[in-house]
Amino acid sequence: MLALTVADGNLVPDTVPDPEPGPEEVLIEVAAAGVNRADLLQVAGHYPPPAGAPAWPGLEVAGTIVAVGGDDNSSLVGTEVCALLPGGGYAELVTVDAGLVLPRPEGVELVEAAALPEAAATVHSNLSYLISPIVEEFSPKVLLHGGAGGIGTFALQYAKRILGAEVWTTARAQFTEDLEALGADRVLDYREDDFAAEMRAAGGARAVLDHIGAANLEDNLKALGVDGQLNIIGLQKGRTAEIDLGTLLAKRQKITGTTLRSRPIEQRRQIVGEVFERVWPVVDDGLIKPVVGTRLPLKQAAEAHSIMQAGGHLGKIVLTAA
Ligand SMILES: NC(=O)c1ccc[n+]([C@@H]2O[C@H](COP(=O)([O-])OP(=O)(O)OC[C@H]3O[C@@H](n4cnc5c(N)ncnc54)[C@H](OP(=O)(O)O)[C@@H]3O)[C@@H](O)[C@H]2O)c1
Repeated sequence: MLALTVADGNLVPDTVPDPEPGPEEVLIEVAAAGVNRADLLQVAGHYPPPAGAPAWPGLEVAGTIVAVGGDDNSSLVGTEVCALLPGGGYAELVTVDAGLVLPRPEGVELVEAAALPEAAATVHSNLSYLISPIVEEFSPKVLLHGGAGGIGTFALQYAKRILGAEVWTTARAQFTEDLEALGADRVLDYREDDFAAEMRAAGGARAVLDHIGAANLEDNLKALGVDGQLNIIGLQKGRTAEIDLGTLLAKRQKITGTTLRSRPIEQRRQIVGEVFERVWPVVDDGLIKPVVGTRLPLKQAAEAHSIMQAGGHLGKIVLTAA
């Protein structure tokens, strides 16, 4: 089969053996693969795939189940699905643990479903702790950095439609109207505006979702209100920073960090199961939609990576089989 493998820091079309599903796995014929920043890091040699995963990138796909490894899942053959992967999505076929598979949501085109698993699992696993407090707390403020990105466009909709939060986000000003349509109440320009001062003046955020890391740390803590939690999912602008721990104590703040791919398989299955229970009904109802800004054929994966690297895109980038 065709796969986009990594050679000397580049993505190249290659012919590799067809994968075969293990006992708890299904084999998916890939219709589309979502592009993620981790794929760019992997190609650059900074994020090796975990043991047992294919050597080529691709953390999420949509497609059709064409074979299963054990009798238990035989009824799934022919089903249109999307799936969270430890890698290997940039290919014509991929095997995946059956517990990491989700049905294609109603009303979502199969190719666009490839944009959902990584964003849904990342956002839900980082923000679902807000679901129960929000029942008691009317419309708390959440600050979501990078609202125009693949994670951000999903997170805005999740925060508005599932958490019922007052949603603030940072992005390029050119995307303000798009992000308001997705659920943003305030869109701040990350290059111009002082998000920490603005959020403080408004009473402080209950939660911040951040992928910038060190460069935002001090301002994120200033933006957080009492009992607020900073959830770090990326380190795009640095991994080392100094903070005044006194504010954590005085405001009872928390800082957490996670990466989805490095979680044990049981946790990833649990997250995907919760996404199916809590998030998929909202997607089925059309209240959360994948935002796919760019589609390119799989063979143009290197171009897709250049687009993501350059920035300035809206939503997810997906690679299509045809
Ligand atoms: N920990 C996890 O489990 C996990 C899982 C998935 C993704 N992630 C991380 O989440 C991040 C977002 O992923 P993605 O797929 O959404 O990438 P993406 O589509 O490239 O989106 C990133 C967004 O951040 C914006 N941005 C750049 N600098 C910013 C700044 N200083 N402040 C606020 N926003 C800024 C970008 O805007 P411009 O277009 O203007 O550059 C872009 O809209 C990445 O760092 C990724 O590695 C983590």
